[in-house]
Amino acid sequence: MLSTAKLFFLCFLGIILLGGVTPSHAATRRYRFVLGNSNHSRMCTNKTMLTINGQFPGPTIYARRGDLVIVDVINSADHNITIHWHGVKMPRYPWADGPEFVTQCPITWADPGTSFRQRVVLSDEEGTLWWHAHSEWYRNSVYGAFIILPPRTETYPFAKPHAEVPILLGDWFHGDVQEIMETFLATGGDPEVSDGFLINGQPGDLYPCSSQDTFKLRVEPGKTYMIRLVNAVMNNIMFFKIANHNVTVVATDAAYTKPLRSDYVAISPGQTIDLLFVANQPPSRYYMAARVYSSGGDFDNTTTTGIIEYVGNYTPPATPALPSFPPFNSTAASHNFTSQLRSLANAKYPIDVPRNMSDILFFTLSINLRPCPNDSCAGPFAERLMASINNITLQLPKTDFLQAYYRRLSGVYTTDFPDNPGFVFNYTQTTIPRDLARPQNGTAVNILDFNATVELVFQGTNLAGGIDHPMHLHGYSFYVVGSGFGNFNRTRDPPNYNLVDPPLMETIAVPENGWTAIRFKANNPGVWFMHCHFERHVSWGMGMVFIVRDGPGANEKMLPPPPDMPRC
Ligand code: C2O
Ligand code: CU
Repeated sequence: MLSTAKLFFLCFLGIILLGGVTPSHAATRRYRFVLGNSNHSRMCTNKTMLTINGQFPGPTIYARRGDLVIVDVINSADHNITIHWHGVKMPRYPWADGPEFVTQCPITWADPGTSFRQRVVLSDEEGTLWWHAHSEWYRNSVYGAFIILPPRTETYPFAKPHAEVPILLGDWFHGDVQEIMETFLATGGDPEVSDGFLINGQPGDLYPCSSQDTFKLRVEPGKTYMIRLVNAVMNNIMFFKIANHNVTVVATDAAYTKPLRSDYVAISPGQTIDLLFVANQPPSRYYMAARVYSSGGDFDNTTTTGIIEYVGNYTPPATPALPSFPPFNSTAASHNFTSQLRSLANAKYPIDVPRNMSDILFFTLSINLRPCPNDSCAGPFAERLMASINNITLQLPKTDFLQAYYRRLSGVYTTDFPDNPGFVFNYTQTTIPRDLARPQNGTAVNILDFNATVELVFQGTNLAGGIDHPMHLHGYSFYVVGSGFGNFNRTRDPPNYNLVDPPLMETIAVPENGWTAIRFKANNPGVWFMHCHFERHVSWGMGMVFIVRDGPGANEKMLPPPPDMPRC
């Protein structure tokens, strides 16, 4: 028989052993996401839309660096869907990454509802990320913040703010977003623009019927606040500004930056920015606001606002002060802000920029036109708008790339996505013959060896019109080592790269008729989507897939799929 002392000792040993399996700070956190239809009224319109747990925006996920987050996604709605954890690298585990027909088939709707237990594997991410639907245009109402705090024993690399506030920029369409998507894909023209923008789901009091629908933040004079800013807007880069207050950027895409002081922010769809501001102005009410930066095409020119309200005794102004924005079309304002971002890059947060490149890729990003029978399309010249990378318009397969790769199914994709565009021309000249603009449909992947050191230059083209492209890579963060306007020049530009403290990001706006160079090490085996985060551009085909091969070591191989992987 075991004595009490021995029993006690065994239990104690058991705790030590179990605790030793994972790093001491890692915890498992569980969430339950039920997808359903719910009613929401904004700007004098009531509509039914898809939401998680009936909430709009959806629930916030909280975790600490290195945790495992398990989300049970239950589809009780009437549409198929997938959910993506934007910016989470998911080391060796693309199975729960989420992009529809890239890493999974959709979670189908049924009665009582199909479910998928998604293991969201955090590693070095720390800061703000978000999650969103990754099928069709459902992310318009299916999204939320994903906040990753430092481990319990660590602090921020800046003084702890008095309070932290997630600010999610979203957009509101009076119509059904799915119908808007189907219409523009059918006509070949541009999609309808949004009817308004939202701060944490609220349009703000500059819109009709919205005085109650305004996000408010009460602040104490002298205190510092952290805003965790997420751009969840469908089709626009946004300027964000707080009247009379400067901000200090401290992180982007869940990686710390050198403090960057500015009086405005430009943020791409997909991107996140953590910023601090001090309530150091005369006690009053001030607007925080966001509106579009657009380098081309139609856009929603409205302004969403929230109110920063100082506590204390004062006579509030009739209307709060409104910030003044850069002009809608100020590419300079957008690019200047983004190109000032720098990694924190200190002893505690070192960086590791690849220097000897094994793979040098050059990808053109184009909006294209394709002729339609009897000139029947709604795009320019009565043709159909399309988009491409290296002149290939992505066609998603009917089963997913990841399944096809893992099970060695043939006929799902080809492996010839080119490292360079098929033909070379002056990408950014003012007018380009339309015949150069014909893209090819393809389901091609680009294969990278494990630990390949990759430099990828994105080159915007002016084919059917130049515009910024916020490019997003799944499974990785990358260093943004350079960018500029006009055509990239292999002799002139690389010597100017920043290899000392480039920002570490997973979404970067390639400027209108310009280029951006990124570097990363392909140390995460799997199947990873890369696409423009403008929803209309990815719907037009501006996406491609990387397959990163397994490495030789036991810890360098993709893990097997979970048992409840959705089937096509
Ligand atoms: Cu924010 Cu492919 O996604
Ligand atoms: Cu784009």
